[in-house]
Amino acid sequence: MKKILFVSSEAHPLIKTGGLADVSGSLPKALAELSQDIRLILPNYQQLKTQGEPRYLCTLRVDNQDVSILETQLPHSHVKVLLVDYPPFFDFPGNPYNDVTGNAWPNNAERFTLFCRVAVEIAMDRAHLNWKPDVVHCNDWQSGLVPALLSLEDHRPATVFTIHNLAYQGLFLGTKYHSLNLPNQLWHPDGLEFHSMLSLIKGGLVYADRITTVSPTYALEIQTPDFGYGLEGLLRHRQEVLTGILNGIDTELWNPQTDETIAQCYGIEQLDQKRANKIALQQRVSLPVNDRVPVLGLISRLVEQKGIDLLLDCLPEMVAMPIQIVILGSGSVSFEQRLQNFAHLYPQKLSVTLGYDENLAHLIEAGADIFLMPSRFEPCGLNQLYSQRYGTIPIVRQTGGLADSVVDALPESIANQTATGVSFHQANAGALMEAIKRTIVLFDHKETWRHIQRNSMRKDFSWRNSAQQYLSLYHEL
Ligand code: ADP
Ligand code: GLC
Repeated sequence: MKKILFVSSEAHPLIKTGGLADVSGSLPKALAELSQDIRLILPNYQQLKTQGEPRYLCTLRVDNQDVSILETQLPHSHVKVLLVDYPPFFDFPGNPYNDVTGNAWPNNAERFTLFCRVAVEIAMDRAHLNWKPDVVHCNDWQSGLVPALLSLEDHRPATVFTIHNLAYQGLFLGTKYHSLNLPNQLWHPDGLEFHSMLSLIKGGLVYADRITTVSPTYALEIQTPDFGYGLEGLLRHRQEVLTGILNGIDTELWNPQTDETIAQCYGIEQLDQKRANKIALQQRVSLPVNDRVPVLGLISRLVEQKGIDLLLDCLPEMVAMPIQIVILGSGSVSFEQRLQNFAHLYPQKLSVTLGYDENLAHLIEAGADIFLMPSRFEPCGLNQLYSQRYGTIPIVRQTGGLADSVVDALPESIANQTATGVSFHQANAGALMEAIKRTIVLFDHKETWRHIQRNSMRKDFSWRNSAQQYLSLYHEL
């Protein structure tokens, strides 16, 4: 049995802005089910939704500040969660990274430096919790300083750093470094310095014993200039310790047979009942109720990564087709406005819901026929996995985890019953449009469509395999 400290800045259902929360809420659970002794550590944000009051454990003095450690439980699991309670940094409305107006917290460097320092104290058992992990598993830039600071300790636990998205690096002005009271030994171009800036993600990339990312294809892509943001050289240099492990999903939360948030549960043998969800979805988002037109869904952060601009370029042609489009998301103001303008012009064709709504997300997965994920890059992506489990056929760009989890419906894959979606290569509107048209043709062949739906629903995206791969990695260390 391994003792694992899992360091993350979000975890579903306590606090979520994106896929990192899905992973941090479900991988520790899967590892606990494999009999590992795992604890999660998170900042105690004001928005955090715990079941009951967290329990006070102790107070630590870090960098001249008194920080309390609280303990709660990850709901529906045996995983203990340690909360870093420092109200001057975390007790504000807004999300983990931005204030309510969507601007990054001006003290993000200070906030996550403190969080990492506390994680290091726990990892070295200097909080006297009588528990010293064998492995500290960190995720994304917010926890990047943990491997860096631990590298300076004797008798330290092993460290793993997982890249969920290399586009977010925790970059700050280099002049900030010294005001953070970080050790001088880490400040050089082969350390935390990146072209005179402070790069918190480099703490993980340079100093962790092992680096993982969330799909095998993304592990290769980030070693190239197109996806590496200038870090490709460092990643190539560390390729011996870099692997890609495809994310799993929480198969209890995302299960069309038991999902309480949808209109009608259904399984692979009752695919006809999926129809009730389509009708409920059309009603919910005020589109004409029509069982025959294909409904295309999209749930996403509305940012460039997700190929929203490609979709916007396709919309004029799409609204002339016999289809409906349901979009749920939030993000860039310009994308939000352009989508809303279209929805106002074509209210019978396109519904746009701005904001964050988990119940609607489940209903879209269950009610749509087709799911759109035209991402420019996608480290793993979770909605294409949820879609396949719900028999909602994904259209994806062939990149990262999308390439690793969706099998394009071509004559051969249709014949040997491995097809689970439709994919396209080029990141342009023409290629997306061609994929949409190809999917509609398949949709009209009812029998073929059913086969593709069944192939998708049969796939095992549970954590079983991937959690085992993480465990093997911990054992190698
Ligand atoms: P990323 O982490 O890059 O945003 P993922 O596909 O890995 O992308 O995960 C996104 C997660 O966030 C999924 O669980 C998705 O359903 C959810 N999500 C994204 N936007 C919304 C929204 N507006 N409302 C509800 N859930 C959302
Ligand atoms: C990131 C990536 C996404 C991935 C998620 C969880 O947010 O953008 O592709 O699925 O992390 O690993």
